[in-house]
Amino acid sequence: MLIVANWKLHFNLQEVREWLSEFAENISEVDDSVEIVICPSFPLIPELKRIVSEQVLPVKLGAQDISIFEEGQYTGEVSGKQLRDWVNYVIVGHSERRSYFNETDQDVLKKILLTQKYQLRPIACISSLDQAEVLEGELLDKENLVIVYEPLFAIGTGQSDSPSSAAEQAQRIRSTFGKDVRVLYGGSVDLANVTDFLRESIDGVLVGTASLDPAEFAGIVKKVSAKG
Ligand code: PGA
Repeated sequence: MLIVANWKLHFNLQEVREWLSEFAENISEVDDSVEIVICPSFPLIPELKRIVSEQVLPVKLGAQDISIFEEGQYTGEVSGKQLRDWVNYVIVGHSERRSYFNETDQDVLKKILLTQKYQLRPIACISSLDQAEVLEGELLDKENLVIVYEPLFAIGTGQSDSPSSAAEQAQRIRSTFGKDVRVLYGGSVDLANVTDFLRESIDGVLVGTASLDPAEFAGIVKKVSAKG
């Protein structure tokens, strides 16, 4: 099971330190089958990485985006070559990037390919199956591809999709891309509903709002771990 925290545009250095210390207090044994990935804003990654390794926390890191460019005159961009030293995963094509920064399906495809080129694992977000069409027929490393089904109405609203609908979408993604792809559900996942989503066809969850509270996120990890 994969549990991804998407912190979006939250926290500064001090808040990251506080979050991690409370998370560490609340987390107990994590089952081997559970992988925890935290995705902070770029400038927070080094401090998070330092504390995680110093305290030997069972946490991997991810970035929230990657440039479609590899190198050159692209002010403000962060490339795969730069990220590779810091993270294992990269969130790609989140609906907020699609709607506020005009990312297209083609951009998302480029980002997935670049993420894999630099031996990072893409966590590709789609809010409907047609956003995945661009990936069909592409040479992707399926074993290292994570696809997240996140319906727009459920993101940041407190109104999650029903577990049966999420499981159905996950099945459809799997029947298109094969059994090696890991499929997650995202959209208003919290401590109260997380276990409902851990059906056979769903390999984990992407957690936004509920990941901002370290005790709640640790609770989610515990619940998933108990299932593992
Ligand atoms: P949410 O965010 O858990 O606050 O709905 C999920 C996401 O946007 O990744």
